[in-house]
Amino acid sequence: MKVVITGITGTLGEALGRACIARGDEVVGVGRKATAAPSTCSVSVANAQHSTEDAARLLDLDPDRIYLCAGQIEDAVGPGGVPLASTMEQIHRVNSLFPALLAIEAASREWSHPLDIVTVGSIADGSPSAFGPVYHASKSALHHFVTGTGPILHAANPHVRLRLYRPGVIKGPLSWAPTIRLNARGRKIRARRCRRAPEAAVVARRLLAWSDGDDWVGSDLEPLSFRFLKLLWGLAPDSYYRLQIASWRRVSKFSGSEGQGA
Ligand SMILES: NC(=O)c1ccc[n+]([C@@H]2O[C@H](COP(=O)([O-])OP(=O)(O)OC[C@H]3O[C@@H](n4cnc5c(N)ncnc54)[C@H](OP(=O)(O)O)[C@@H]3O)[C@@H](O)[C@H]2O)c1
Repeated sequence: MKVVITGITGTLGEALGRACIARGDEVVGVGRKATAAPSTCSVSVANAQHSTEDAARLLDLDPDRIYLCAGQIEDAVGPGGVPLASTMEQIHRVNSLFPALLAIEAASREWSHPLDIVTVGSIADGSPSAFGPVYHASKSALHHFVTGTGPILHAANPHVRLRLYRPGVIKGPLSWAPTIRLNARGRKIRARRCRRAPEAAVVARRLLAWSDGDDWVGSDLEPLSFRFLKLLWGLAPDSYYRLQIASWRRVSKFSGSEGQGA
């Protein structure tokens, strides 16, 4: 099978590349620069992953399956923890806009074989949070796009299947990203979740096994707290907003005494 993997230099992309190589797939590893480790792919390709033209170049590779593992989270914030406009644009582009452009372009082509587009979301997509607001919004947009537009694309072009896998936290630098807005108390809570996080190789095996099946949306196990928050957001959006205000006061490093000058 010919597989294209974006984010091949990342925690999950690398592990997935290795797992695909191990089972004999031909792997094209995609990064913004062609710097993928040879153990993770058969060939390394550079692609900006910005536009429909970039998407077309990936589809020209004629893959059987594409894993869109590239993803970004906020690594810097402005005064008071406010999102930076430029980072926000980049995050939305790589996490949700580019996957959408690629899927639309794929459905407009004639294929002589099935094409599986596996987007990588997050179990955090159902619960907006003041501690990763741009990331959550972009993953939520991706989930909405896949569920809303995927059926249309598949009906228009039965060779193309747009699917979504939602990992939970993975051991690695990205799992720590929300700490950018957390105070010491919040970081302690986060540390518990990071300590229990599985290695990327475990998640990659899970993702691979899932994508060999026929389900449209797959998820790592969602903690009960995530399920509860999702319900609350859906059923009582104003209470959910108030909960975020309260959490910001309690565990943000930008509020209270810790926030002075932060
Ligand atoms: N790690 C977690 O805890 C976790 C949990 C849930 C979901 N996920 C999702 O799983 C996917 C992989 O996560 P990861 O932990 O492997 O992340 P990672 O280690 O930070 O790797 C991210 C990859 O995405 C690429 N990338 C970053 N910003 C980009 C941009 N603006 N445009 C194009 N490429 C960009 C990077 O490639 P280059 O810089 O080489 O181009 C890198 O290979 C992401 O979609 C993430 O949201 C991760």
